[in-house]
Amino acid sequence: MIHRMGLAFYRKYRPKQLADVLGQETNVALLKNAARDGRLGHAYLFYGPRGTGKTTTARLIAKLLNCERRRNETAFAKTGEPCNVCLACTSVDAQGSFDVIEIDAASNRGIDEIRNLKESIVTAPSHGTHKIYIIDEAHMLTPAAWNALLKTLEEPPRHAVIILATTEYEKLPPTITSRTQRFLFKKLSKTHIMEKLRRIAKAEKITIDDAALEIIAAAGEGSARDAESLLDQAASWGGNIDARTVEELTGRAGLRKVHALAELVLKKELGKALEALRARHDEGHNMTDFTKDLIHYLRKALTLALHPALLKAYRLDFTDEELKSLQSLTPLMKSETAIPLIRALIRSYAEMRYSQFAAIPIEIALIEQLQVTRDK
Ligand SMILES: Nc1ncnc2c1ncn2[C@@H]1O[C@H](COP(=O)(O)OP(=O)(O)O)[C@@H](O)[C@H]1O
Ligand SMILES: [Mg+2]
Ligand SMILES: [Zn+2]
Repeated sequence: MIHRMGLAFYRKYRPKQLADVLGQETNVALLKNAARDGRLGHAYLFYGPRGTGKTTTARLIAKLLNCERRRNETAFAKTGEPCNVCLACTSVDAQGSFDVIEIDAASNRGIDEIRNLKESIVTAPSHGTHKIYIIDEAHMLTPAAWNALLKTLEEPPRHAVIILATTEYEKLPPTITSRTQRFLFKKLSKTHIMEKLRRIAKAEKITIDDAALEIIAAAGEGSARDAESLLDQAASWGGNIDARTVEELTGRAGLRKVHALAELVLKKELGKALEALRARHDEGHNMTDFTKDLIHYLRKALTLALHPALLKAYRLDFTDEELKSLQSLTPLMKSETAIPLIRALIRSYAEMRYSQFAAIPIEIALIEQLQVTRDK
């Protein structure tokens, strides 16, 4: 085993400019334009699933506002990107800027933090032109903290910018959200995550094959951070990383295995389907995750059968080869049988999550569905 030192990948490869933030094109375009024109706002709300770029983008705004090169060179300011060389930029990367204050609302529900914010926000920035407050997990703030924050959001000092980040938009009071510019951060597609993983693997001189990269990217389930952490773990094993290694690491089967079972099920090969399940179980795969992957896969095959134009959207989640496999299933997809099948699998997934019986619910579901349809 090779022991690597240094920063975790997800910190080392945090995007240093807006252009490197993947999958959030609208947000990036809007912010870049605002930065070019010197029109960045004073209150933002970034919301969406974890690991999609909220904190990263908040820090980029902090850099954009205080970057010394942007202040001194009009032509450079028009790029809408930070320089990443000046003290203001580098101190944001090192999380050592006095003008960028990150608040974790989850700790102590933000009571002391918001009190401190109200006191410190009125004083001038120490180095740059702006003070940027990034409030993470904003949904955790107490009603009292929200109230305290509300007045500041209404009339912030000219030098202050407040950026709220949350995974749970619905939990924020409308009085707050209505006073911010709102940006949704979407889950990243598998292809975007793979692009990023490939870049990291290359920079770190990690040898990893495409099948392995795909399994890691898929296991991230839309979160770049989760996928990058998995790659980090896989890399620390040293040597060549192949699909088998990664399957062991994540407990997840590659899409090929999901496809194989889907095909058997759709062809009503009950015996072989049960054997395949048994094999996945023996290989140590997490059967609950496997069931979830199967549900998503069948649902995509069904929707694709009903509406072939969806192919374009599914390109984001599948490689060309995977798409071909998926398409090969569409002739087998009949709503009358596929819908009860998917329903039964969803039920068994719910049962598996909390039961002592591991793989039994999916087995039962398949037996029921395949026997019933065969007897018909
Ligand atoms: N849109 C993205 N493009 C590229 N990398 C990303 C993106 N989102 C997240 N990452 C990776 O994941 C890490 C964590 O992202 P972060 O911005 O902290 O996510 P969150 O949305 O949870 O705040 C980043 O350092 C980066 O390596
Ligand atoms: Mg974050
Ligand atoms: Zn700079």
